[in-house]
Amino acid sequence: MQKKWWHEKIAYQIYPKSFMDGNGDGIGDLAGIIEKLDYLKELGIDIVWLSPVYQSPFVDQGYDISDYYSIAEEFGTMEDFDRLLEEAKKRNIDIIMDLVINHCSDRHEWFQKALAEPDGEYGEYFYFEKGKDGNPPSNYRSYFGGSAWEKVPGTDKYYLHMFAKEQPDLNWENPVVRQKLFDMVNWWLEKGIAGFRIDAIINIKKDLNFPDFEPDGPDGLCACTKMVEQAEGIGEFLGELKENTFAPHDAFTVGEVFNMKEDALEEFVGDNGYFSSMFDFAPHILSMGKNGWYDAKDINFAQWKKAIIDSQLNCQGKAYLANIIENHDEPRGASRYLPAHARNKEGVKMLGTVSLLLRGIPFLYQGQEIGMTNCRMSDISEYDDIDTRNQYQTALDAGFSKEEALKICYKYSRDNARTPMQWSSEENAGFTGGRPWMKVNDNYKEINVKDQQGDKNSVLSYYKKLIALRKSPEWKDVFVYGEFVPEFEESDNVFAYWRISGEKKALILANFGMEKETLKLSACAKEILLCNRERAGNLKVKDCIELEPSEVLVLRMEA
Ligand code: GLC
Ligand code: CA
Repeated sequence: MQKKWWHEKIAYQIYPKSFMDGNGDGIGDLAGIIEKLDYLKELGIDIVWLSPVYQSPFVDQGYDISDYYSIAEEFGTMEDFDRLLEEAKKRNIDIIMDLVINHCSDRHEWFQKALAEPDGEYGEYFYFEKGKDGNPPSNYRSYFGGSAWEKVPGTDKYYLHMFAKEQPDLNWENPVVRQKLFDMVNWWLEKGIAGFRIDAIINIKKDLNFPDFEPDGPDGLCACTKMVEQAEGIGEFLGELKENTFAPHDAFTVGEVFNMKEDALEEFVGDNGYFSSMFDFAPHILSMGKNGWYDAKDINFAQWKKAIIDSQLNCQGKAYLANIIENHDEPRGASRYLPAHARNKEGVKMLGTVSLLLRGIPFLYQGQEIGMTNCRMSDISEYDDIDTRNQYQTALDAGFSKEEALKICYKYSRDNARTPMQWSSEENAGFTGGRPWMKVNDNYKEINVKDQQGDKNSVLSYYKKLIALRKSPEWKDVFVYGEFVPEFEESDNVFAYWRISGEKKALILANFGMEKETLKLSACAKEILLCNRERAGNLKVKDCIELEPSEVLVLRMEA
């Protein structure tokens, strides 16, 4: 593959509302992010992805944008944003924004004008469709539950919203809409941001016949994704978007792409793809339930490992994916991918190691680097997330008790990752001097940045070493560009792989099991590059190695 400027970078996702509060109103903000840039620099971060900071009524936490050209007042002002860009630049950190262009907020001027005059120009900015026999145009269930169609007041039409009803879908078929979006994208790129994370982008191409499908749930509706899956021609939109915006700016773009058509990998993210990269969600979709979170399956080690290996092999030489353990839509990896016996400091380091040394660009999510976990809430009212409230109700409707439904939210809620960042053992975890907008996880006294900064064996100290190893002049050829080769694939407990670049070879070995593992190596180990235990250069038997439970080793192997 062609080398790109961003290949060697490490990215970090900030969820602004919960990262750091600079003015004491209990809500994270841009001033807070600026305060913490040195922290990110020290960790080894090169790219920061900001979840949406645009003006928004926050029905879906900023993924409902009411003005693409202004900053939400909760987060600060455009001057604050410019200062953030400038301060980040001083530290060699690039900022990428979230690009939410499948839909906007129902408070956006375009939608307000469309409602005022449904048959006018702005009605064409959205999908306004006639109903069928007093019913919506089709039987789609939105991502957040309920019909994906909502009545346009005072008409016989409905508007399409694949997410919440406050998030009307933008009509990409309308060239005026596309041009306005391209202008906006260019405006931000010209301001000096390095690129975008692109939200929910697979949804922009609809099947304009909006056919009904066989119902797939107890509500008698079917997932709106069915319609998107069979829509043809998204490539034209994405190609146009790229040529008019990203390409002339050499921007770095990472797509949130679910349900891509098979064989479209290179078209999407090959050397000349629509995007620079896209997230590898292969491990994440393993626990998707058929009807919701209530029938989601626990992740099993063998499946998880296989999903990662398959997708690494599948994109080798073709694409450079973005690897994550968690994000603002997922539970915490420490509470999800580690078997119960490994849900501890060493386990978290092990998980970080096998993920960050994969081929692809690592995206850390705030708090991952200190091992933040899922958060227990005592009542549904403590949750803010629209999706969680819907899933809670879905579980109740399916016959689960309140206690059971709450347990389900504890496992899968998006708010698990949205609790305030744990900076210290002080009140509110040092996140705010005010009243935090969302509950702080009770474990902040045990898990926080400040204590970990002073502890050379902490998760944070380990992440710094791990990132430094990946970026080191000696090893970056291997970890960034090297080939990925799985090892001990048949093992029930060990996740292992090689990274190889010419004569240089590294072997990563991780024991997710409960027992000690003895591994016969196919080559001699020369040196321990990294380990999550005290093992100090002690490689007595060079071709046979013992791994303690939850131990991870990164080895330099003989050439
Ligand atoms: C993406 C975002 C998610 C949001 C949705 C609608 O999946 O990551 O947080 O709710 O799109 O914009
Ligand atoms: Ca604030």
